[in-house]
Amino acid sequence: MTGQRPYTPGELTVHHSPDELGKVTRALRATGRKINLVPTMGALHEGHRTLIRRARRIPGTVTAVSIFVNPLQFGPDEDFHRYPRPLETDLDACRAEGVDLVFNPSPEAMYGTGATTTVHPGQLGAELEGAVRPGHFEGVLTVVAKLLNIVRPDFAYFGEKDYQQFVLVKRMVTDLNLESAIVGVPIVRDADGLALSSRNAYLSEDERRAALAIPAALAAGAMAGPDGPAAILAAARAVVEAESGLRLDYLELRARDLGPAPENGKARLLIAARAGRTRLLDNIQLVVGHGVDENDDTYNPAAGLPRER
Ligand code: PAJ
Repeated sequence: MTGQRPYTPGELTVHHSPDELGKVTRALRATGRKINLVPTMGALHEGHRTLIRRARRIPGTVTAVSIFVNPLQFGPDEDFHRYPRPLETDLDACRAEGVDLVFNPSPEAMYGTGATTTVHPGQLGAELEGAVRPGHFEGVLTVVAKLLNIVRPDFAYFGEKDYQQFVLVKRMVTDLNLESAIVGVPIVRDADGLALSSRNAYLSEDERRAALAIPAALAAGAMAGPDGPAAILAAARAVVEAESGLRLDYLELRARDLGPAPENGKARLLIAARAGRTRLLDNIQLVVGHGVDENDDTYNPAAGLPRER
């Protein structure tokens, strides 16, 4: 079942070796097939599956999903060892979604040759999530660069759930002249509004109830959009502070590229908070003020830039 044949149309093949997978995707590309890559750490849920479905919408493409809990992006006191690894269930989900290739390397296969080179994310990598998790984005960008180099996908898909990760990956691809197009996919939420996350499995019933204040805070912030940045932050903060079961790590309003927030136009409100031992992330796009941001390409056809989606 795992890895005997390099690729059979309509069947899932699992690869553990970077070289082996690289050969398969190279051969597929030589026949004119386009390649999709959906990088994940496994414990696949509806959010991941939405990324896969988005990839498979492009006809005639081959879709690869990587399942790799990347040690490089976890801090020493984080949940690397207890991170869920339900591989067989994940493979069933990939089969059900029509995935062609799964890449499931060991840490040794990815880093076992005495690797010392990493990708440094720059200033944004030390802000927001990076301020709370030093070295996290260096670990993320390093593994994503490796995955993009191994698979050489035409398209790689990232969720806006991890918005800063998405922005940093796009930046890296531009800065390092990588050839893959990075596609952002909107956040998938549970019926109660909580953004889906593999870490939601850690939440007790009470913690989960408290966690609902996170999407509620973002919604309150978005509603206050016309009143400007200070009102947005105050409205969102009030909702979080009213929930004693949450501890706020940060709540920030930023531009869509995570630069300073505009006074007018589209922006992103980002939050991280803890419910018990579990850190939860969320964010929302909103409009600040009533006017138009002159740097917002949505309102500026002369800029000739494509809409984000
Ligand atoms: P992981 O947390 O498994 O997430 C894999 C991808 O699924 C990421 O792009 C993430 O943003 C997306 N995703 C997760 N939950 C989502 C949701 N509710 N809605 C939309 N997309 C969602 O992110 C990582 O793994 C790792 O850092 C990785 C990029 C694989 C590098 O190791």
